[in-house]
Amino acid sequence: MSYINLITEIEGNIATIAINREKALNALNKVTLDELYSAFSEVFNDDRVRGIVLTGQGEKAFVAGADIKEFLGRTKEEGMDMARAGHRLFDFIQNAPKPVVAAINGFALGGGLELALACHIRIASTTAKMGLPEVSLGIIPGYGGTQRLSQLVGKGFAFEMILTGNMVEAERALQIGLVNHVVSGEELLTKAKEMLDVVASRSPKAISAAIRAINAVFGQKGFEVEIQEFGSCFGNSEFQEGVSAFLEKRKPKF
Ligand code: CAA
Repeated sequence: MSYINLITEIEGNIATIAINREKALNALNKVTLDELYSAFSEVFNDDRVRGIVLTGQGEKAFVAGADIKEFLGRTKEEGMDMARAGHRLFDFIQNAPKPVVAAINGFALGGGLELALACHIRIASTTAKMGLPEVSLGIIPGYGGTQRLSQLVGKGFAFEMILTGNMVEAERALQIGLVNHVVSGEELLTKAKEMLDVVASRSPKAISAAIRAINAVFGQKGFEVEIQEFGSCFGNSEFQEGVSAFLEKRKPKF
């Protein structure tokens, strides 16, 4: 299948999916979320494929978040619907029958970092910057970030990253367990593919079983709390100010 906002490729038994909206720093608009769901379905059902690399096109961004230009005017219910659409895709990736490695080649912010968090393994380039800056927009992470970041790096670092909204550099991300490896930009895809080559040489049924079992460590209840809280941020005056400030390229006044 061909896509408007994705570039997909299968080489040997590894598929690569690259988000391709470089001018918008690969931000996740509705079309891109839908296309990602289709592309992942396709590779999960393709018997040739034993592992998937997910990355962003260009050198600047993996994904700079949900598309903020689609935010303004949304109600609480629409905010919740938006969160549910993201959760549906990100749960699908997390519960994939095949391993998915995020190759983080630049900014991974908001929904972009949340997308990487839904993958099984994360590898970053030395120039990557990661963060959950949603509170600057008057919202909270809405694609599973409050849950998956806490699960991965622990509550302390999750509180720091989510409450400050500050970005972390690749080396810091490695220290706190946010990413598994840091390599140069030139080595990034090779490193991700090498790791998946190893996994691909193991029993595919055992790999699927291991993914299911590891995912079972964590509870699901908090995801619904996040959806409700994300939705309730929409429509209030701080949300209006945060989103307007981003679109007008100024600092918000809360
Ligand atoms: N949505 C829509 N457009 C975005 C975007 C986003 N998340 N991030 C960047 N862009 C666009 C910019 O608007 C700009 O477009 P124009 O050229 O049309 O003005 C283009 O991409 C380039 O961006 P900048 O000019 O801002 O580039 P920069 O180098 O000065 O800054 C940046 C880079 C720090 C990543 C900055 O773009 C930025 O802060 N982006 C927003 C990050 C963010 O807040 N992400 C969270 C989104 S909310 C979310 O994801 C909610 C959720 O949990 C589901």
